[in-house]
Amino acid sequence: MEIIIVENYKELSQKAAEIFLNQLNIKLNSVFGLSTGSTPVGLYNKVVELYKKGGYDFSFVKTFNLDEYYLISSENKNSYHFFMNDVLFNHINVDKKNIFIPDGEVKDCDAFCDWYEKEISNNPIDLQILGIGENGHIGFNEPGSSLDSKTRLVDLSPETIKINSRFFDDKNNIPRQAITMGIDTILKAKNILFLASGAKKAKAVYDMIYGNISLDCPASALQRHKKVLVILDKDAAELLK
Ligand code: PGA
Repeated sequence: MEIIIVENYKELSQKAAEIFLNQLNIKLNSVFGLSTGSTPVGLYNKVVELYKKGGYDFSFVKTFNLDEYYLISSENKNSYHFFMNDVLFNHINVDKKNIFIPDGEVKDCDAFCDWYEKEISNNPIDLQILGIGENGHIGFNEPGSSLDSKTRLVDLSPETIKINSRFFDDKNNIPRQAITMGIDTILKAKNILFLASGAKKAKAVYDMIYGNISLDCPASALQRHKKVLVILDKDAAELLK
């Protein structure tokens, strides 16, 4: 892993956006793996800002999102469909037919997950954006997830449900499950851009980098990947010193 420590979230987002857009410069038809949550918002905002200044074309790009709640409608403002449209897709010229996000309402989950996994195999991800949960999860691969896991329906841990409840007005309506790319799916990306911000992530980041590769910290599986660029702000990196 290559590790870059920056001063704050603004710098993290700026640096991540440069890498994101550089990928587009390298390959016009790049395949991006995208993540949601608070961490990548600054990155997407910056990408949109730079896109609006001109010079970038997303029309040949494909995107695969890491995960989506289950059950949730794509119109629900807490869905990751809604989030992605709101922060990124509505503002760039990506072709809607090239956007892939797990279906939060699909009836036959197994068939859908197999299809999603196959689409990713057929369109290998050039750059995967990745965050980490306080419990070390990547995507919704909670502690205990197999390192060989593929795209599938998972139960969210009580800790994740609690942490993500901050986004939901009605706390009774928080989904208990999600469809997520597996750890093995994520590790197949050619490059991974890993982002973490804030002291709450410091322990998980430490375990990811220095811990044994273990199911207890799903992110530790990234030690197996050859091309992970880790960008941390000072707070997320505080235990590394
Ligand atoms: P966050 O989520 O960016 O909202 O902290 C990251 C994650 O849970 O993977």
